[in-house]
Amino acid sequence: MRATIFSYVYRLIRFIVTKTLYFIQSILFIPKDLEPAVKIGDSVMSSISIIGKPFFDFKIPAKNQIELFELKFPSPLIAASFKSDYDILSIWMRMGLGSVTFKTIMKDIRFGNNRPRLQDASLENEKGLLNSMGLPGPGIEKFKQTLSDINLQEFNRPLGISIGGDSASEYVYIITQIENALIENPYSYFYELNISCPNTVNGQTIGDNPNELELLLTQVREFTDKPISIKISPDLSNERLIEIGEICLEFDRILINTGNTHYKKPSDVHVIPENFSMNAGGFSGPALFNRTLEMVKLFSQFNTPIIATGGISTIEHVRSLQSAGAILFGMATALVFDPYCIPKINYKL
Ligand SMILES: Cc1cc2nc3c(=O)[nH]c(=O)nc-3n(C[C@H](O)[C@H](O)[C@H](O)COP(=O)(O)O)c2cc1C
Repeated sequence: MRATIFSYVYRLIRFIVTKTLYFIQSILFIPKDLEPAVKIGDSVMSSISIIGKPFFDFKIPAKNQIELFELKFPSPLIAASFKSDYDILSIWMRMGLGSVTFKTIMKDIRFGNNRPRLQDASLENEKGLLNSMGLPGPGIEKFKQTLSDINLQEFNRPLGISIGGDSASEYVYIITQIENALIENPYSYFYELNISCPNTVNGQTIGDNPNELELLLTQVREFTDKPISIKISPDLSNERLIEIGEICLEFDRILINTGNTHYKKPSDVHVIPENFSMNAGGFSGPALFNRTLEMVKLFSQFNTPIIATGGISTIEHVRSLQSAGAILFGMATALVFDPYCIPKINYKL
């Protein structure tokens, strides 16, 4: 009941804030840009987080716990890798996520692409987001320094550390750095290899080249036995997905994460091209769901635990993916549109 009321209020406030922002941008002749609304929303949420117990604290039913390798997830709902603000990740944990995955970490500091690079979008009448953030982030040195004192450890839930790179050796370098930084830290974590992010120098991803993935996993397994999730693009052909599934079978303690954003041009998803700094970006939201379900069914033949990500926002989504073989459920766009979907799903699971 509480979650339903706050869900309604949150969506109403989000609607008012974004419409007001777009109105101001239009009268100032500035291109439409969703990013300021996200920043306003994040700072409001963070500032009320101390007095926010009634808004943010929801119990997770004990029966929702999932154990995978040595990782104990109190809920199978997790934040997909997309957010780097620890206060917001912490609020989502309080609402009932079983784990959060940090935004992909790259070797060096990155400022990302020019704005506007995040827009409200839609496909097949389903609202979503189009982003071409370009992996902005602090780089591994700064990330390492924040790891030891983040308040997220208090939750005692697994944390996902998403790694990206322009080459396999950059992935290996970043993981080595993290292993060294966390050697004396007992908190539970898993790695996620973001092999589906087309930000490499030559525009290719490791997902495009299964041999490179095999080499990367071989190198990483030489120095860590931490669980590793492989995050795969829904844009790959089913034949390529099967090749990746077969490679994953060669290694222990691997999870398959079925889904990053779909590559789309702004005009494909009702975004005016002048309002987007890049020729194309990653579309996310409920319209991805059917492909996510298809991918989960395809990977269920491999006996490798599956994280379903892409288009999840309701209990019906979770149930269908569960029946198809997924164990954990990653969400990104749904958390932006209405994070109260977390307690709503948790109570119905
Ligand atoms: C603004 C934004 C930034 C994202 N950044 C990352 C990222 O850094 N690493 C990653 O693996 N996926 C990233 N993603 C993809 C999400 O993790 C997720 O796979 C995708 O959005 C599909 O799930 P959804 O439909 O629940 O949003 C990003 C998505 C959005 C919307």
